[in-house]
Amino acid sequence: MNEQVVILDFGSQYTQVIARRIRECKVYSIILHYNTPASEISKINPKGIILSGGPSSVYSRKAPLPDKEIFKLGIPILGICFGLQLMAKYLNGKVEKGQKREYGKGLLTIKKSNCLLFAGLPSKLQVWNSHGDKLTKLPTGFKTAAITENSKFAAIENNKSKYYGLQFHPEVVHTPKGKKIISNFVHKICKCGRKWTMRNYVDQAIEEIREQVGKEKVILGLSGGVDSSVAAALIHKAIGKQLTCIFVNNGVLRAKEADAVKKLFGKTFKIKLHYEDATALFLRKLRNVTDPETKRKIIGNTFIDVFQKATRKAGKAKFLAQGTLYPDVIESIPIAGNPAALIKSHHNVGGLPEKMNFKLIEPLRCLFKDEVRQLGTELGLPKEVVMRQPFPGPGLAVRILGEVTSERCEILRNADSIVVEEMKSNNLYYKIWQSFAVLLPVKSVGVMGDERTYEYTIAIRAVESKDGMTADWVKLPYKILETLSTRIINEVKGVNRVCMDISSKPPATIEWE
Ligand code: XMP
Repeated sequence: MNEQVVILDFGSQYTQVIARRIRECKVYSIILHYNTPASEISKINPKGIILSGGPSSVYSRKAPLPDKEIFKLGIPILGICFGLQLMAKYLNGKVEKGQKREYGKGLLTIKKSNCLLFAGLPSKLQVWNSHGDKLTKLPTGFKTAAITENSKFAAIENNKSKYYGLQFHPEVVHTPKGKKIISNFVHKICKCGRKWTMRNYVDQAIEEIREQVGKEKVILGLSGGVDSSVAAALIHKAIGKQLTCIFVNNGVLRAKEADAVKKLFGKTFKIKLHYEDATALFLRKLRNVTDPETKRKIIGNTFIDVFQKATRKAGKAKFLAQGTLYPDVIESIPIAGNPAALIKSHHNVGGLPEKMNFKLIEPLRCLFKDEVRQLGTELGLPKEVVMRQPFPGPGLAVRILGEVTSERCEILRNADSIVVEEMKSNNLYYKIWQSFAVLLPVKSVGVMGDERTYEYTIAIRAVESKDGMTADWVKLPYKILETLSTRIINEVKGVNRVCMDISSKPPATIEWE
């Protein structure tokens, strides 16, 4: 098994960021619930433990507390913010309510203590703080490793027991040298190697898939998105012809999407691909439906029906593969003030029903999205697939306001292709989170030549975002806007007006629905 570092999650919004930073140091990390028993942690045999931050106060009655036996495991521990305060609580230090909340940038001055956490770093660092309580007395056996203007104990260490505490957040980008601090913890203090790479992961995952599947057959629902594509390529590498992919055309795909998937997976990768064109069925079910939630439900339920029938046609299989990722697996901590707890996807189209009686195989369930992209590249998938922008499961149906008809789908497809083409040729497509066209069901008057026209409006949406939870609209150069407008109006029949959506999320959402 991999060398790994365990992160105990006390409800910080940055817990997953800590896990990713560690993995960027080529060390495997996992996130566990804050009160995981020390005996269970010890079975995993981690090389180190990180106590995450969190919104609570260690002295609050409702504070999430770890099993105190973790301090007897003899494993290096790093406490971050709330984690540092926990160390103080358990190891004889003292934490008090700060006069004021310390939030934002601070300047850290490192003491000449040879603290391994700061090895190779300059003596002054910019750091990011976000805490109310603060340490006022060192825990037994600790000394100060660094201070800030507001704190005598911004970093503390007990070299002998290998316990360290940071009042600031090394994991966030606002602590520019934070990654080096985390690297020092995992490499110099926990003595982990650099073994967690996607190249190594491929071999390990292939072995696991073969072991799990044996001689049985696997079915996978391919959507053309990053996760299912990478899962397909990986499983195919492991078990070849035992895998059958099912690709359902729900009639609300982008232009050329179905052909691209058939070509890449069927022809290039030579994966057994079952293509089910259910366009007519989906559009029939969507007829006269204008309510966005109803549209989503219809698409979700119809998909399940079509998929279920297709699996029967594809032959008997024991396993169903899914591209579930690590953030979907991590149990979020229901602590007030923890947005991570609220993120759970209200979007999901609805899982494939349990009654289908498949065993699940989820080869990406320990990976973050950026790792899935690296894995896809490692497996030879092209950049257009691996780096593609998110596309909602209910497809163009959420980008056509009002009723979805085949005429409107065609118009939106054509407009959308122009947006994607222009964003790519202007080197913007891979730099931003999403860029797409939306069809508004409002018709307005225009003139073309000598004729009056009465046609639809296209809105252009381009947003920057880290995770889709919040987003800023992109200030596209006028030149690009001009080209988009001219091309869409000239080339897309049925459109005579183009506008740009300049709303951020919140209060708007990314998709219009
Ligand atoms: P909103 O519109 O809620 O979208 O701001 C946030 C992100 O989620 C994507 N999205 C979906 N993804 N199935 C998905 O897999 C869906 O039904 C769905 N709806 C929205 C959206 O594109 C954006 O990236």
